[in-house]
Amino acid sequence: MSKTRFAFVGTGGRAMCFIEPLVTTYRDHNELVGICDSSQKRMDYYQSMLTEKWESPSVPSYHADRFDDMLRETKPDIVFVCSKDSTHHDYIIRAMQAGCDVITEKPMTIDAEKCRAILETQKATGRRLRVSFNYRWGPYRTKLRELLASGTIGQVRSVNLEYLLDTSHGADYFRRWHAHMAESGSLLVHKSTHHFDLVNWWLDAIPEQVFAYGNLAFYGKENAIERGDEKFTTYPRYTGEASAKDDPFRLDLESSEPYRQLYLAAEAESGYLRDTNVFREDIDIYDQMSLNVRYRTGELLTYSLNCFSPREGLRVSFNGARGRIEYHEFLGSQMNRAVNSDSEESDKPPASNEPNELIRVYPHFQDSYEVTMPPSSGSHGGADKVLSHSFYSPDAPKSDPSDRFAGHEQGAASILVGVAGVESIRQNKPININDLVALKPDATRLSDLV
Ligand SMILES: NC(=O)c1ccc[n+]([C@@H]2O[C@H](COP(=O)([O-])OP(=O)(O)OC[C@H]3O[C@@H](n4cnc5c(N)ncnc54)[C@H](O)[C@@H]3O)[C@@H](O)[C@H]2O)c1
Repeated sequence: MSKTRFAFVGTGGRAMCFIEPLVTTYRDHNELVGICDSSQKRMDYYQSMLTEKWESPSVPSYHADRFDDMLRETKPDIVFVCSKDSTHHDYIIRAMQAGCDVITEKPMTIDAEKCRAILETQKATGRRLRVSFNYRWGPYRTKLRELLASGTIGQVRSVNLEYLLDTSHGADYFRRWHAHMAESGSLLVHKSTHHFDLVNWWLDAIPEQVFAYGNLAFYGKENAIERGDEKFTTYPRYTGEASAKDDPFRLDLESSEPYRQLYLAAEAESGYLRDTNVFREDIDIYDQMSLNVRYRTGELLTYSLNCFSPREGLRVSFNGARGRIEYHEFLGSQMNRAVNSDSEESDKPPASNEPNELIRVYPHFQDSYEVTMPPSSGSHGGADKVLSHSFYSPDAPKSDPSDRFAGHEQGAASILVGVAGVESIRQNKPININDLVALKPDATRLSDLV
């Protein structure tokens, strides 16, 4: 059987999580045929990992302005998009037009116009586009979907979801490109796309209308000065800055080989600084957001995201006609592998007297009970491992009983909650998602969307 040919665009920190399993565990059935990035240095680092660490052949590398050459010369079956969010649409569209299927990292894209362009190209080309929503593949989150779908608490009427990013992982978004609306669409798109996708999928419902508030309350120069932390604002970046030695928000790019190779070594060539001060002036995204969503089928979502919390994780509760389910996960900071310089230690959650993950069902008029689960391990609560299997293994089932495969329409249904949220904050009024992008107007269930 011939191998499936993969090309990657975007060889920063995240691509590692997908390239490593492709060229190691799943190499018998798949082949990496090319990589593309705006930084040659970052691609050089991947080449060294391929040959020296993963015992795999080196592959042709293409600068971003030669993406089309890569498609023509290496003939991939699937293009995996792992570049900066604001560039996703461009690569998704060009890959589909060249006859390739695409897997894209979340968010599928960052605004309504780019979303419409992706959907139109998909329709015109008929290519398959998947969004790698790894959160769906975490064992507890998959279990929740099963519990809800099997009617454990009857018809679900409302959901409350609180997500916390801590002062390590949360701060990290404010050190680099994510801090600019034009590059990430804000964390309401970049980060919350995971959470909106989870709720859409848990409820099997399509979001209809959004109202939101958001502001920058902690990061940024002004906020630091206002609370008496001016000393943390006096340097533009952290690496090589002696006076930042005791700054708890400091990131030292000399502290690990991946940081040095992927980011420090590529600065002169790419202009990308990975460690700019989180208390600087040019941040234009929010660090606290609060939002309400009404679904086409009537369910209500109350959601909040805080990015400067001492602990990281989520609490979600579902109120149904026959009871309530509560779930929490506090798995520690989820810095991705290439940017996590402190080994496993930094990923541990702060001490707490409750378990790191717990699902509890509260039926009406009966005792509550805990849903027992086998222990999970690995990045993102074990989700990345299961997701890689679904992309690369010939044994992966083509259909999934939990409907965990997300296509372009489901990718859109998730980002559009965030895009509508940003619009709502700007206009101070509720926004109808269909006014941004008309997603199959007659569909009622998420599973009616591809
Ligand atoms: N699902 C998850 O849990 C998860 C986790 C981390 C990142 N991600 C996603 O993965 C993607 C990459 O994130 P990252 O953490 O690796 O960021 P990163 O900054 O480390 O890497 C981004 C890469 O994109 C490249 N790039 C920028 N502009 C480009 C262009 N025009 N053409 C080609 N390449 C370009 C950069 O040179 C860099 O190598 C993002 O879309 C992010 O949302 C997902």
